[in-house]
Amino acid sequence: MGRIIAGRMAQQHQPENAWTVSLLHVQPSDHILEIGFGPGTTIQRLAMLTSEGHVTGIDYSSTMVSLASRRNARAIKAGRVKLCRGNVVNLPFANHTFDKVLSIHTLYFWQEPLRALAEIQRVLKPGGTLALTILPREKWPGGGTGTEYCIVYSGDDVVKLMLDAGFTSAHVEPCPLPTQFRELSVIGIK
Ligand SMILES: C[S@@+](CC[C@H](N)C(=O)[O-])C[C@H]1O[C@@H](n2cnc3c(N)ncnc32)[C@H](O)[C@@H]1O
Repeated sequence: MGRIIAGRMAQQHQPENAWTVSLLHVQPSDHILEIGFGPGTTIQRLAMLTSEGHVTGIDYSSTMVSLASRRNARAIKAGRVKLCRGNVVNLPFANHTFDKVLSIHTLYFWQEPLRALAEIQRVLKPGGTLALTILPREKWPGGGTGTEYCIVYSGDDVVKLMLDAGFTSAHVEPCPLPTQFRELSVIGIK
């Protein structure tokens, strides 16, 4: 089941994944972290953009770690990508490790979002950027009430969470291509 879902995600989430990467203005020497990489297609894209840098990914699901590791086998072998299993609330990285962090369609599943964002803030370098892309509450089917296990947010909710977690600034980037996708991204600067 996980493999089938991963295959669908790889195709369906492609537009907002590509857009989120473009928002980060990736430089060849960047060290980047993706949280909740799922099938690993964005890891692949990031690895191509960081010829002198490094890409790290962390995901809660062992199925996704195994699928994404297969997809990125060559870059992993070359030491340019590292993927591991873990939870965003307890990132196994030193303070000030990454220039950029991104996470797409994962915030809904974080049971402790403030703690998670404080963890991301900790591992970012000063001046580093976080891009958190979500389908905002008002665009969810059924009015966006969410559930205990899938919490939905407005862009403003996420801005507030980021500022509460210690980010210096945060703002909403609205969807630039509403005919192709409906997500927004919240950009936080440490
Ligand atoms: C809906 S998928 C999105 C995958 C990919 N980002 C995309 O846009 O196609 C959510 C991913 O986040 C991961 N995830 C959920 N909660 C997590 C957590 N607390 N820590 C790390 N990863 C998490 C899941 O295992 C899953 O791979």
